Amino acid sequence: MKVSVIGTGYAGIVTGVCLAEMGHTVIMVDVIKEKVDAINRGESPIFEEGLEELIRKNRDSKRLEGTTDIAGAVMGSEITFISVGTPSRADGSIDLGYVRQASEDVGKALKNKDDYHVVVVKSTVVPGTTDNVVIPALERSSGKGPDSEFGVCMNPEFLREGKAIEDFMNPDKIVIGQHDHRAGDVLEKLYAGFDAPKLRVDLKTAEMIKYANNTFLPAKITLINEIGNICKRLGIDVYDVAKAVGLDKRIGPMFLNAGVGFGGSCFPKDMKALVHKAKKLELEPTMIESVLKANKNQPMMLVSILKRIYNSLEGKTICVLGLAFKPGTDDIRESPAIRIVKRLLEDGAAVRAHDPKAGKNFKREVSDIMILRTPQEALKGAHACLVLTDWPEYRELEDRDFEGMENKVIIEGRKILN
Ligand code: NAD
Ligand code: UGA
Repeated sequence: MKVSVIGTGYAGIVTGVCLAEMGHTVIMVDVIKEKVDAINRGESPIFEEGLEELIRKNRDSKRLEGTTDIAGAVMGSEITFISVGTPSRADGSIDLGYVRQASEDVGKALKNKDDYHVVVVKSTVVPGTTDNVVIPALERSSGKGPDSEFGVCMNPEFLREGKAIEDFMNPDKIVIGQHDHRAGDVLEKLYAGFDAPKLRVDLKTAEMIKYANNTFLPAKITLINEIGNICKRLGIDVYDVAKAVGLDKRIGPMFLNAGVGFGGSCFPKDMKALVHKAKKLELEPTMIESVLKANKNQPMMLVSILKRIYNSLEGKTICVLGLAFKPGTDDIRESPAIRIVKRLLEDGAAVRAHDPKAGKNFKREVSDIMILRTPQEALKGAHACLVLTDWPEYRELEDRDFEGMENKVIIEGRKILN
């Protein structure tokens, strides 16, 4: 089938490339010309394992191209995914500005299109958005209605950065939120090659499923983090505890890695958006709010452990290994490393850091830090080392790699060292 994807960010580019890999013809659209040009050169606008190879392969076989011409992309496809950002506003509510704009742009193109076309919301949006924001914007700008003239679906995405291709290609489920059966049938046909349960629901149920997912998982992480904090005081290894607890089928082993807290572009923003939505409905989502609060404090647990060793950090050199919010990505959005490094600098420490991919992005966010090419260089002269991202390469570090340290104080915010 012919597909267009609006937004070449982490979610959009992976969606487009994987659909091309499944045999569809995909046009990627972005307002940022550099990103589109990169795709057309066969380069990835972001770092994600295996992505660049797939971009090149599908570009070469003419199944993938990039453009800034949204109208042309809609005209040349049967389905358009809207995969633009949905960031938080200052009060935590969802900013739907990009979604509204993209919907209007797609609508304008639909005005001149005679064939039936399905618009699919891929962005994470609070329940009610597709019905109350996307469809009215499409109607306004196209002058048409969402039934016989165009179709509308909401298809949340569950991929994880760092495992994005694997997750997209082997999903646990495909949620097809549909305005009507005809639209849902078109989307189900697009996913025919995927071996996963396909759940057909209405638009707002699909939207809610995504928020339920992105609330359950961080709540699980936060529970094990709190148990971990108690374990630490009692001299118990929380990983032994988690291993046993995870064997209970009702709990399961995943998302039980205790550490410095969850980061990333989605868990924090989606939970805040859900809290805001719940409050507008005059509900008190106390548990979700507690998870957010606990997670805000969690990175500081590491700083307080460091301060139990060194009363003052003034003049100390601290090595930070890992800056990305998780391994396998150059993404630093809401990375716990940001809060920790800023606090270390405020307390008068000098910070030497290493990250296999995210150094450049981090330096743009916190400039007062030295990024070194290897962990060994970053460790040189350090009074302590904090491990903040569980990059697999850190597992390879041996005792002698730490020999350049001034004092061998090593605190693992993510368990990875061997
Ligand atoms: P992002 O900010 O990385 O990318 C969004 C892209 O959309 C940008 O390149 C931007 O230039 C482009 N854009 C914005 N408005 C546009 C317009 N009118 N026309 C064309 N391009 C436009 O965002 P992301 O991380 O890819 O997330 C996108 C959505 O997907 C969000 O709602 C997010 O919650 C959801 N999501 C993300 C992930 C993830 O792993 N990052 C996973 C699942 C769901
Ligand atoms: C998360 C979800 O897992 C995806 O299903 C979802 O599609 C995505 O958000 C989204 O909506 O954008 P992502 O944020 O890319 O994916 O990565 P995760 O693997 O979920 O990790 C999120 C954070 O939790 C990271 O900071 C990670 O280090 C932390 N984490 C994860 C833990 O602290 N412990 C764990 O056991 C697992």
